[in-house]
Amino acid sequence: MSLSNQQPNTPHQDVSIKKVFDVEEVRKDFPILQRQVHGNPLVYLDSGASAQKPQSVIDVIARYYSEQHANIHRGVHHLSQEATQAYEDAREIIRKYINAEHSHEVLFTKGTTDSINLVASSFGRKFLNEGDEVIISALEHHSNIVPWQMVCEERGASMKVIPINQAGELDMVAFESLLSNRTRLVAVTHVSNSLGTVTPVDKIIELSHGKNIPVLLDGAQAVPHMHIDVQAMDVDFYAFSGHKIFGPTGVGILYGKEALLNQMPPYQGGGDMIEKVTFEKTTYNTLPHKFEAGTPNIVGGIGLGAAITYFIQFDEQSILDHEQDILHYATEQLSQIQGVKFIGTATNKASVISFLIEGSHPFDVGTLLDQQGIAVRTGHHCTQPLMDFYGIPGTVRASFAIYNNRADVDALVAGVKRAASMLL
Ligand code: ALA
Repeated sequence: MSLSNQQPNTPHQDVSIKKVFDVEEVRKDFPILQRQVHGNPLVYLDSGASAQKPQSVIDVIARYYSEQHANIHRGVHHLSQEATQAYEDAREIIRKYINAEHSHEVLFTKGTTDSINLVASSFGRKFLNEGDEVIISALEHHSNIVPWQMVCEERGASMKVIPINQAGELDMVAFESLLSNRTRLVAVTHVSNSLGTVTPVDKIIELSHGKNIPVLLDGAQAVPHMHIDVQAMDVDFYAFSGHKIFGPTGVGILYGKEALLNQMPPYQGGGDMIEKVTFEKTTYNTLPHKFEAGTPNIVGGIGLGAAITYFIQFDEQSILDHEQDILHYATEQLSQIQGVKFIGTATNKASVISFLIEGSHPFDVGTLLDQQGIAVRTGHHCTQPLMDFYGIPGTVRASFAIYNNRADVDALVAGVKRAASMLL
């Protein structure tokens, strides 16, 4: 593989002309989909946990380490300047993608969990006091529960939880009644990782802003499936991970409105986040560096830029239509298998299906599927309170991405039938 002839990953590529979405062509971009597992072709239905990587992202990562690597924001030498440029170009690609007003509102983090911990720790220290409240929802991943629990305990504040109905949809009447003059932040998921529910974020933001309460959205499961425009949403904080949108692990984004980020204290201390250090006092760097202490995941940021460059070459509506087709086809086919029970049946869903085979443990179903080369996630999906709501230990979750086709669904359906016949 020659790396030198490839074009640099710059934010200046013309992405206004969108490629027609063709799933069979897309599949060819993901080399891992060619492999076999336990003697069967891989059927990868665990993109909600982590998505696979296209060759263009793999190439950018290889090229970075082969030709470009040096530490960034520190060196006068050529390589450092080049690496810095590539990293900041990636930030600009991401800014454009989410339509943030300023690139310094786009902070690189380790991932969604780190992004939420940053807000909980920094915003919490600044704005949460005794008796204050943070509103989350019953759908949340542990990463949007535990950081709030920790900071609430520290600050003498408390957490309120928006309840859900049996379909896994937020009770918006209850939400409205939870908003009070003690509420300092609303932190909810955009798409439920366990159920696929798409939450009514516009309404959540409108109601919260009506009371001057900022909103954080956990966008980890939304970003790979739908267009995100942080200005159109008027969201205050938006968190997501690189690896779920076809980029590397260990990198993610926190978008935050400039005015809020400027009021918040640094999250971590170290190199790059300072302006001047003496033993008596330290003053801090400007955004985004104030929140980016230490040598960052440079290749992660550059790889994430490449992943978004890959993703935005397709027309958004055709991706959405394709994934909705897969979701509906899979739901319809699985519903015909005796004993299959869906967990989470919201009207507005992203391409995630959680289900049980009645009388079987999800781990057993997952193991039998794995033996047939079918990768699904089983268990509580880091949403134990949500599983408690349904009174179950976990589910079997099939999560679909742009590269899944109807043949993958057919394999899943055949696999579930086989598992059911063995288990029941
Ligand atoms: N949060 C990831 C998932 O839902 C890991 O599987």
